[in-house]
Amino acid sequence: MPKVIRGMKDILPDEVSRWQKIESASRDVFRLFGYRQIRTPALEETALFVKSIGGETDIVQKEMFSFRDRGERDVSLRPEGTAPIVRAYLEASLHKTSPFQKLYYLGAMFRAERPQAGRMRQFHQIGAEAIGSPDPAIDAEIIALEARILDSCGIKDYILRINNLGCKDDKKRLSRTLKDALTDKKAMLCDDCKRRLAINPLRVIDCKKDNCRDALRGTLKNIKFLCEGCIGHFDSVKALLDILRIKYLLDPYIVRGLDYYTRTVFEVSHSRLARGQDAVGAGGRYDNLISDMGGPELGACGFALGIERMIMAMGEGASDFGGGEAYITAYIAAVGEAAHKRGFGILNDLRSAGIACDMDYEAKSLKAQMRSADKSKARFAIIIGDEELASGEAVVRNMATKEQRRVKLEDIVSSIGTPCHD
Ligand code: HAM
Repeated sequence: MPKVIRGMKDILPDEVSRWQKIESASRDVFRLFGYRQIRTPALEETALFVKSIGGETDIVQKEMFSFRDRGERDVSLRPEGTAPIVRAYLEASLHKTSPFQKLYYLGAMFRAERPQAGRMRQFHQIGAEAIGSPDPAIDAEIIALEARILDSCGIKDYILRINNLGCKDDKKRLSRTLKDALTDKKAMLCDDCKRRLAINPLRVIDCKKDNCRDALRGTLKNIKFLCEGCIGHFDSVKALLDILRIKYLLDPYIVRGLDYYTRTVFEVSHSRLARGQDAVGAGGRYDNLISDMGGPELGACGFALGIERMIMAMGEGASDFGGGEAYITAYIAAVGEAAHKRGFGILNDLRSAGIACDMDYEAKSLKAQMRSADKSKARFAIIIGDEELASGEAVVRNMATKEQRRVKLEDIVSSIGTPCHD
C-alpha cells in the first residue's frame, strides 16, 4: 500500500477544524493590523534561495528539495516565504507603485530535515512581511502581531527572545570577532563549522552539536560590534515593546539560520516543544534583502510561525480549539430505493436554499441512519420511507426535543427554514 512520504503528514478531517480555527483567528488578527494576503508559488528558482537565505546556511546546504525540471531549470520547493514574497514584490514593481506593503501568508514550506517531533519535511507557516519601512515601530508591530496571533490561539507561556545583529558592517565586525575567538578553538568544531568559520562564521552559531556549542560559549557576551545607528534603532524597538507591555529576554545567541537578517531578530519558544526545535515562530528585520535582489534600498521586517508547532504548544488547550465534526442542519434518513431517490432530490433543494444537509450512502437501516444524524449533530432528521412516499409527507424530527411532525415533501425546504451559516 502506498505510504505518505517520510517527514510529511496527512491532516485528517478530525484535525482540520483546529487548523481552520488557527488560520481564521490569524486572518482576523492580520485584518486588525492592516495586513493583506499574498500567495506565491510553492516552486521557485533555486538561485532565489541561495542568494537570499545564503549559500552557507543549513537550509541551502542540506535541506532544500531541489531538482532540475524538464526545461533544465534548477528549481526548489520553497523552504520559507520571505524570499519569494520579496521576489513577487519586486516583480510586480510594488516598490514603484506603493512601496510600503504589509503582507501576510499561510502555506506549506519544505525542508529536508531529519524528521522528528516538531520537525517536518513539509510544514506550514503563518507569516507576515512589512516591506518598505526602516521604522523601529514596524519591528515592534511585527513582534506584537506574532504575539497577538499566539494569544488569540490560546497559546500561553511562550518566551520571546530578541537580539540586535546590526547592519551589514556590524555583522561583518561580529563575524570577524567570532572568527578570531573561534580560531583557537577550531579543533573543537565539527567539519561543517570548520568550513563555516572560513566562509561565514555567523553560521557556526546555528550548529546544534555539543562541541561547537561548547566552543561558542562566552564568545558573544559583551562584545562591541554595533554602530550607533543600530544601537539607537534597537533601543527604540525595546522602548516600543515596553509601551505594548510585551515581555522579552535579550539573548545575544539569537542569530537565526538565515543570512538576510539585519538589526532586530527574534524567536518565540515554548517549553512544550523539544529542545533544539522549540521555536514556535521567529523573524526579524532584513534591510538589505530588497536591494540585494535588485530593488531599491528599503527596510523590511517579518516573522513566521509554524502551525504544527503552534498545535504542539497548545497542548491540552487544543481540545477547546475545535473538534472534528462538520455540523449540518438536516439529515435525510431514507429507507428503500424510491425514498432514497426522492430524498436525494430534497437534499439538493435544501442545499440550493443554503441549508447544510446530508444523507446516507451506505444503505444503512433506519436505526443506523438515525445514529448518523445524531453523530452529525443535525438539528432535524427528515425520515422518508415507502409509507411517507405514498402519503406525500415526510416525518421531520427535531433531534433535540425529539418532537416529530409530518411535513409535505414539497414544503420541507420552507419548513426547515433558516439558511445555515457556519
Ligand atoms: P524560520 O525560523 O526558519 O524563519 O522558520 C519559522 C518557523 O517555522 C519556525 O519557528 C518553526 O515554527 C517553523 N519551522 C521551520 N522549520 C520547520 C520544520 N522543519 N518543521 C516544522 N516547523 C518548522 C523563516 O522561515 C523566516 N522566513 C521567518 C521570517 C519572515 N523572517 C522574516 N520574515
